[in-house]
Amino acid sequence: MQHPEASSINEHSLDRDCTTLSRHVLQQLSSFNAEAQDISAIMNRIALAAKLISRRLSKAGLMAGALGFTGETNVQGESVKKMDVYANEVFISVFKQSGLVCRLASEEMDKPYYIPENCPIGRYTLLYDPIDGSSNVDINLNVGSIFSLRQQQGEDLEGEAKDLLQPGDQQIAAGYILYGPSTVLVYSLGKGVHSFILDPSLGEFILAEENIQIPQHGPVYSVNEGNYWQWDESIREYIRYVHRHEGYTARYSGALVGDFHRILLQGGVFLYPGTVQKPQGKLRLIYESAPLAFLAEQAGGKASTGNQRLLDVVPDKLHARTPLVIGSTKDVELVESFIQDWTRRQLETESLIVT
Ligand code: AHG
Ligand code: MN
Ligand code: MN
Repeated sequence: MQHPEASSINEHSLDRDCTTLSRHVLQQLSSFNAEAQDISAIMNRIALAAKLISRRLSKAGLMAGALGFTGETNVQGESVKKMDVYANEVFISVFKQSGLVCRLASEEMDKPYYIPENCPIGRYTLLYDPIDGSSNVDINLNVGSIFSLRQQQGEDLEGEAKDLLQPGDQQIAAGYILYGPSTVLVYSLGKGVHSFILDPSLGEFILAEENIQIPQHGPVYSVNEGNYWQWDESIREYIRYVHRHEGYTARYSGALVGDFHRILLQGGVFLYPGTVQKPQGKLRLIYESAPLAFLAEQAGGKASTGNQRLLDVVPDKLHARTPLVIGSTKDVELVESFIQDWTRRQLETESLIVT
């Protein structure tokens, strides 16, 4: 007979192995009602998209036509990679004939994409960045996908998605997939942040960590310092502060998902401030910054534009950008304090000039 302790360890690891993403969603919603079933099914389709993208990424260097640019430019004015197109189409394909998601909007599509057969019953919109950190794709470094789920309001007859021009607080679910040494899916339904790792032998995302909490402070600052002379003086002052003080270290991978994941687990701050060329920064609000802001807050951290809580920002268009400061509460607040201090000094100088 097996030792009772050994048997309880087996039970524990078996229970963990059986905690798949779709089961976890139902546990989170504490219900088997139709809405819970729908959200569980949506997360399951997102997991399928993640597996398809992960599979292609793992073999891309061996496949003809998987890497490199398409020669096209997207609505952001950025060169499109073949992997961006593939991943964008994967998210559309997994939701076809699902009866779940009526409309998708992504970084790679000028306008929202409708799946009309789903619309009579599926009143959700999925917003996503199919490949985040595309510049890493061709050199086999980490990339990600970001997603956000919202309730669709009204008919959107003009296809301009005006109902999406709402603050990030309206998100029902948000998360990302990080394609790194392992494929990790992190999500929140507004009840904490949880991570799952793809077990390739099972083809399932298995629970790795529940209720992740961002440390209140961490050593990492993550920013593209190549933009130093394009930032406002307040950001330059903050960077000079971390240079002069012990305990800070820079980490920047070129993929927001990877940089954010490090901060989620170990603390610190990621920032993409406005620059001379891009006064609103580079990151898009509704399918990059807002989903990560939702996760940051759910994990006890903070996300802001530097001046305003990020989840309060109302976008003026589908592909709107905002400056982003995100991560550990104390580190985000430190960046904000530099911005506020500088703004106050500017106002004082201006009032002196006027008087
Ligand atoms: P995407 O590949 O979806 O366009 O996003 C790239 C983003 C983000 O992942 C990253 O943090 C940032 O762009 C890097 O931009 P810089 O090269 O300007 O630092
Ligand atoms: Mn991106
Ligand atoms: Mn992208």
